[in-house]
Formats: sequence, structure tokens, C-alpha cells
Amino acid sequence: MTDVGGGSAAGAQTVVGGASEGATTGSRARLECSEITVNFGGLAAVSDVAVAVPPERIVGLVGPNGAGKSTLFAVMSGLLRPNRGKVILDGADITSERPQLRAAKGLARTFQHPELFSGLTVRDHLVLAYRAKHARRRIWSDLFTMGSLRRPGSHENDSVDELIEMLGLGRLALRPVLGLPLGSARLVELGRALAASPTVLLLDEPSSGMDSAETEQFERTLRLVNQERKVSVLLVEHDVDLVMRLCSKVYVLDFGLMIASGSPEDVRADPAVRAAYLGENLKVSEASGSEDLSSGPRTRTPAGARVPAEPVKGGTQAPELLVEDLWVRYGDATALHGISFKVDAGKALAVLGANGAGKSSLARAISGLVSPARGRILLGDEDISAWPAHRIRRSGIVYLPESRGIFRSLTVTENLRMAAGSIEGRQTRKEAIERALEIFPALASRRRQQASLLSGGEQQMLSLARALASFPKLLVADELSLGLAPKMVDLVFDGLSRAREAGLTLVMIEQYVHRALEFADECIVLQRGELAWAGSTGEAHGEVLRHYLGEAMVAAG
Ligand SMILES: Nc1ncnc2c1ncn2[C@@H]1O[C@H](COP(=O)(O)OP(=O)(O)OP(=O)(O)O)[C@@H](O)[C@H]1O
Ligand SMILES: [Mg+2]
Repeated sequence: MTDVGGGSAAGAQTVVGGASEGATTGSRARLECSEITVNFGGLAAVSDVAVAVPPERIVGLVGPNGAGKSTLFAVMSGLLRPNRGKVILDGADITSERPQLRAAKGLARTFQHPELFSGLTVRDHLVLAYRAKHARRRIWSDLFTMGSLRRPGSHENDSVDELIEMLGLGRLALRPVLGLPLGSARLVELGRALAASPTVLLLDEPSSGMDSAETEQFERTLRLVNQERKVSVLLVEHDVDLVMRLCSKVYVLDFGLMIASGSPEDVRADPAVRAAYLGENLKVSEASGSEDLSSGPRTRTPAGARVPAEPVKGGTQAPELLVEDLWVRYGDATALHGISFKVDAGKALAVLGANGAGKSSLARAISGLVSPARGRILLGDEDISAWPAHRIRRSGIVYLPESRGIFRSLTVTENLRMAAGSIEGRQTRKEAIERALEIFPALASRRRQQASLLSGGEQQMLSLARALASFPKLLVADELSLGLAPKMVDLVFDGLSRAREAGLTLVMIEQYVHRALEFADECIVLQRGELAWAGSTGEAHGEVLRHYLGEAMVAAG
């Protein structure tokens, strides 16, 4: 949980930098940093980096997972003191200033993983953030009476209402944030940052986990804020098309170094950027062992993601997974209304639909985390519908939750050892771990690092590596490409293809519609808890998607 003024600096290394040289007045940029260097032990997370955000512009910052983007944000917002370098806000050196002071001067940020107060409503979050900036004296009494905020004044009411409207959160305004879909939680985070009326906004992967409607809403809001409220923005984002649409300038970090900067078109065409980040030229066949295309160990192709050593085929004609007339209820609310489908062994099923359509409920029901109110779930010929989650897990179904299934206080190796714990034989366990790490060289070089200190994308890789290290029969993955850089997404899908060839069956929930359809064999579309369409992925193009998912989703896929 963070306070409204910022986040916790837990785990951040604090290094007192050199003395400030005073204000560099006359600077044209609103926010500027130069010669920023951050070392974590032996790791140079950011090396001699300079970034400038001019007034009223939206500037992009992209780069592979672990490139140093969030580290740079931590430096700019004051959660981390750099080993070297300066941060300038509106011409004044703020390198030594506390985060709260920076916020008071107009700098606001969102975090890669939204951390909201679970008991407060969406509206309360915005009210608190508004008060933190505009009525600081009230904030203390509010914090002691959480859950029953003092009545807002009329100006405050108008501002908060306007924000809620702008973010399209009206329907959710009075709901506690607990259980909110990730995309909506991200809009709340954005609202919280905007409630402080910032002049400069730092956004760390704001759209990841948003569905197409939420992304549209986000994009509209950001343009409005930028054009009407004259807010300058620095945007970290892996949705490259979104960056291209919104930004007038883009910076590209790789391994802590600035490898390119310029107009979105120039940056996209830059061969170094394509090799390190976009991976668009990297065909699967070229990738194997091709040194000239890889810019370092992290970009090397997965060496062999053969997941189960013994393909698990079931030996019969029965589908690997059969779901019949599945109903899921939470109290009075029905999340799934009689869903039926099957997935054959070694095949992949894509589950599509807007946030809130029931996709995650389906994943939770298959993995035994919620009990079906009605219906049957069969794994092979065993009815698992009434089994507890741990028994389902032991039978070979691994669930990869949207919120990442990792132990944050354990190291990378400890996380993987736990995942492989049920495999018989020390040597086999060791091999399982090594094989999972082959897909993710970035993790292999972070074996002893605590999971909570990994970058967002590295945590997602660890979550996947854990899933694969346990040799599942069936992988149920909720947004497995969440937070991964485009090239990493390619490598992950490449690794999954090999796993599928070796017999892994997959149920994948994905926001990257086209990507999922390219990969999967079958597809189902959920709409408000009902099965709206089912068929082979070959039939699921054009009209079908437009009809069920809307224009935006087809375009964005
Ligand atoms: N406190 C820390 N201690 C040690 N290493 C750290 C710490 N924080 C970050 N790192 C490492 O520094 C590198 C940069 O991390 P950072 O979070 O800045 O990456 P990022 O560009 O935001 O990546 P992503 O796109 O995956 O979020 C990563 O390799 C990460 O493991
Ligand atoms: Mg990050």
C-alpha cells in the first residue's frame, strides 16, 4: 500500500549524489535529467542517461525488460538518489529534493503495479489525492477515519466528478477498488495522479492490462490532459502502436544505455532498436543461434523450451480439457453462465473478451480457485470440478494468474526450486529449472536476486518460468504477455510453441488478440459471462471479431 504522495522506497538503494550546482534557469524543458547513473551492486541499471520533456509534449520512453526505465522514473520522482547526475524541474535542480516536495512542485507519477487502498472506493482515492495537493490539512484526519472520509467541499466535488467523467469511471465510482480489473485499477491510478493537478506526469506502463475500451479511454484522457490542461508527459509503455500514436519524441533505453532517440518513425526504423527491442526482423528460423541479430545475452533465442520431457497425450481420444455447462457465482452476481468447450491435448485455446467478461473467472474455476455453482470440468477422463486447488495443481494444471504467481521475498532460484519441488529426482528437478531459464536469459543472470527487486517484465518472466519448470499438462495463462517488451513476447510465444509440440495444452487469456489468434488453434469469445462465439482461430478474423470485440480491438490487436 502506498500513500497518495508516492510509493515506498523499499528495496531502493539510496546513494547520496554530488552537491547540486544550483538552478539551470532558462531551460526550455519542463523536466530534464542529465548524466543519470544508477548502480545496484555490480549492476549498472542506468548509465549516463539524459532525457528532456518539453512543455505540453508527450514523450515516450521504451526499451526491453530490465532496461532501466522504472529505475529512471524512481530517480525522477525522488524515490531513488542516483549515483551521479541531475534532475531539473522547471529550471530548478531538484536532485536532492524529497518526493513530496517534487509532487508539490507539480510532478506526479503512476506505478507499474498499481497499489491502491483495497477498502476505499474509486472516488475516495481521487478525493484523497485531491486533498493531498489542495487541502493538505484535511488529509491527516481523513487517514485516521479511512472508509468514512469527511464530506468534500463543492469545488473539490466538481473537480473529482470531472475527473471521474473524464476517465469513464462513473459506473465504478462508488465501488471499493478491491477486485477491480487491472485495467480499471490503472485508470484509478491515473486519476489519482491527475487529481494533484500536475504539470508533469510520469506514467509507467499505464495501459498494460487494459482492454481495448479502457485503452481508448486512456488515450482520450491523456490527449485531453495534454492539450487542455497543458500537462507534459513522459510515457513508459510496451504498446508500441500507442507510443507511436501519442508521442512526439521517443527515447530508447537498452541495458541502462540510451541507444536511440528521435521521432517515433525514425526510432521505429532504427536497426539497433529493432534488434534490441522490437525484434520485428527476428524470424524464428533466423533467431536460432544467430549472433549478428542479437545485441546481447538477453536477446538470444530460447535454446530449447521443451517442457514436458514425456509428452502427455492422455492416450485416449478424450480431450485434455472438457468444460460442460459451467456456472460461476460470487454471491448474487453470476460471472459465468453455462459455458461449454473442449481443448484437445497439445492444442491451444484463446479466450477473448473485454475486461469483466468472465475470462479470469473461467481460469480460476479450471484451477479450482473458485468452485463452480454448476457444471463439470474434466481433465482427461477425471472430473476435477469438486477438487481442491492443490489437488488440481498436482494433477498437472498450472495457473498463471494476472497478478503474477511469484514469492516476492524469495530469490529467482528459490522461486524456481519451489515450482519444480514436486518433480521426482534431484537431477530432473535441476534440469527442469535450467530448461525454464533457457527461455529467459535475463533471469539466468539474476538467479540470486530477490524477486521483488526484479523489473516488472522480469517478474512476469519468473512467473512463466515457474509455470514451465513444473512440467504442466495444461497451462492456464491469464495475460501471459503482460508487461513484456515486444521482442520478449516473440520469444515467449516461440518457447510456448515448442512446449506445445512436446504435448503441453494451453488455455490462454490474452489482450493481444491477433497474437493470440496467430498462436492458438481454437478460440472462444466471452461476453458478460456468456459464450458469444466459439470456433477455430482460422475462422475468427474480420467480421467475427468486429462483431464481438468491437472495431478498436480488431485495430489494436
Ligand atoms: N533494487 C534493486 N536491486 C538490484 N537490482 C535491481 C533493483 N531494482 C532494479 N534492479 C534491476 O535493474 C534492472 C533495471 O530494472 P527496471 O525496473 O528499471 O527495468 P525496466 O526497464 O523498468 O523493465 P520492465 O520493462 O521489465 O519494467 C533490472 O535488471 C532489475 O533486475
Ligand atoms: Mg519497469
